[in-house]
Amino acid sequence: MKFETAAGENPIDRQAVVGKGVDRIDGPLKTTGTATYAFEWHERITRPAYGHVIGAGIAKGRIVSLDLAYVRQAPGVITVVTAQSAGPLGKGGRNNATLLGGPVIEHYHQAVALVVAETLEQARAAAQLARIQYAREPGTFDLDAEKDGATRPDSITGGPADTAIGDFATAFAEAPVRLDGTYTTPGQAHAMMEPHASIAAWEGDRLTLWTSNQMIDWGKQDLAKTLNIPADNIRLISPYIGGGFGGKLFLRADALLAALGARAAKRPVKVALTRPLMFNNTTHRAATIQRIRIGAGADGRIVAIGHENWSGDLNGLKAEAGVRYSRPLYAGAHRMSTTRVAALDLPEANAMRAPSDAPGSMALEIAIDEMAEKLKLDPVEFRIINDTLVDPEKPERAFSERHLKECLNQGARRFGWHRRAAEPATRREGAWLIGLGVAAAFRDSPVTTSAARVRLDGRGIVTVETDMTDIGTGSYTIIAQTAAEMMGVPLERVVVRLGDSSFPVSSGSGGQWGANSSTSGVYAACVKLRENLARRLGFDAEQAVFEDGEIRQGGRRAALSEAVVDGEMIAEDAIEFGDLDDRYKLSTFGAHFVEVAVHSATAEVRIRRMLAVCSAGRILNPKTARSQVIGAMTMGVGAALMEELAVDKRYGFFVNHDLAGYEVPVHADIPHQEVLFLEETDPLSSPMKAKGVGELGICGVSAAVANAIYNATGVRVRDYPVTLDKLLEGMPEAI
Ligand code: MOS
Repeated sequence: MKFETAAGENPIDRQAVVGKGVDRIDGPLKTTGTATYAFEWHERITRPAYGHVIGAGIAKGRIVSLDLAYVRQAPGVITVVTAQSAGPLGKGGRNNATLLGGPVIEHYHQAVALVVAETLEQARAAAQLARIQYAREPGTFDLDAEKDGATRPDSITGGPADTAIGDFATAFAEAPVRLDGTYTTPGQAHAMMEPHASIAAWEGDRLTLWTSNQMIDWGKQDLAKTLNIPADNIRLISPYIGGGFGGKLFLRADALLAALGARAAKRPVKVALTRPLMFNNTTHRAATIQRIRIGAGADGRIVAIGHENWSGDLNGLKAEAGVRYSRPLYAGAHRMSTTRVAALDLPEANAMRAPSDAPGSMALEIAIDEMAEKLKLDPVEFRIINDTLVDPEKPERAFSERHLKECLNQGARRFGWHRRAAEPATRREGAWLIGLGVAAAFRDSPVTTSAARVRLDGRGIVTVETDMTDIGTGSYTIIAQTAAEMMGVPLERVVVRLGDSSFPVSSGSGGQWGANSSTSGVYAACVKLRENLARRLGFDAEQAVFEDGEIRQGGRRAALSEAVVDGEMIAEDAIEFGDLDDRYKLSTFGAHFVEVAVHSATAEVRIRRMLAVCSAGRILNPKTARSQVIGAMTMGVGAALMEELAVDKRYGFFVNHDLAGYEVPVHADIPHQEVLFLEETDPLSSPMKAKGVGELGICGVSAAVANAIYNATGVRVRDYPVTLDKLLEGMPEAI
């Protein structure tokens, strides 16, 4: 099905099932520990062996000698895989770093060997006996030091690396009110609960891989390229995923090494990355340096806005492009943005929840707060004055929907924004300084081809099959709701099967495109099934109504199951969006409000309340959508206050590579969160008239926290995370 123009009225609009906050249908499996995660396919796998990954002990250089004699003699060891033993491997297009290194080492903890043994403990113990000698080469590990040598990437997601509109330099120089600020965000880790894990089993030249991956088809294609085998010989299975946040978008070492290990051991092999290996072996969100210049008239209108962004990656490949945030968000005739990426020899930088926009918002939304203060304007008001209904860098392309103003206004009312003291550090409650902060949220909501198969059996059970993944987001539930709505059956009569490459290729889960795209694919398949059913039962598919397990038209009705003659009826289709993304800017908007208390003596920061107001088209399930947003808000608090990959600039690795050293918020850190969704649909986005919220929810949060801290203390911190050592010196007199 081609989606070409605005969606008209369709069966989803009934919202008998869609739009309801129903519980996750996979919830009981997860809470009872019976959902099979990648490492847990005990019943299907006979006599698995266990692989332990050895990570490189240097950041850059070569392996001079790899002595595995003691490893091979250790109890229980079956085989050892190295780059040498694996033979020539190809490379999928989506990995930057090589997944099995040696002799050349590209980054610290790059996998250099897999020890396969009868038990996990034996594999791990044997791995300690490897004697590896390296020749270290000097590397570059410091973004700040490499900044001036950084180069311009060919492009960034969704646009060119640099843009220039009007005459920024003159407009900025002549603006009556100006800000020139530099902001930094550190490297961050996805730190999802479930580690990267895979079980591989070969039958002849066919590979089955149970894994934990957000994008089934990308994983399958890239694994085929890496192993130099046909993609059709690979089956990837990933029905439950314990979090990804972008860290599981691509093929990683666990999957490749499980496949190689199983081939060498001639039996199934299980590989999970240990937590201390994950931080340096996999990917992370790159650190950024962002310079923002804003010039405005005394009336508060922005006339010039400039955003320069530096980040680093292995081989200088991929930019974390904060400029994406400032390009479409605020009006202003004269604009410039530049993106530079430095070649660093740290582990691979890549996508993490709202790549580019999360760090972009961390910088821009503090700058906007600073500008509002210079202009003596309320920061909500300043944002509203500079709202725009067209993409300021592409005026010919309208936003499909843009309700930033409504989000800000509604949020301000709901949060009691009027209680914010305009003068910082003036509100006290005992020893605590109280502050309120706000930030605008923005994130694109791309659409992408997504296919599904729908089966109807003689009992009237509807089964949906698609390789879509549920990374803890609620895909099972919203897909079931979509099929129930389309076929007119109760939710209990829908079975959803996901995360298997033998099912039709979906959008997968990433870039907050999954909910809207994958349900639209299910919609398309259901339209086809409705047509088939109507034809077989003598109804007009356009006129008929599907309700209560029946197809109805005029005075006639028939049970859906009557159409099923030989076991089941099957329909398959894909939604395709063509150039929709070029014609409209499909984006989501929101506003974040935060109240903090900062201890006047210790500068300890406590979050007190958080509110997000989101505009994201039709909300398919308010319960799972809220869950996405509160998770994202929590992650934004982590980025604001705690998360930082500490770089050892001598040896080139992330020092805090475990969950003791890499801190993320816990329940006690987040006492109160509220999420409001604007009542709306977006007919230009898809037949579902929906969008994504999983990444919108994090964008702006960290800046809202930083702005609240400023409001509480009068201390402006431009380098994340905002830890108390950065606040102490400037704190007002304690009382
Ligand atoms: Mo997202 S960073 O595309 O999982």
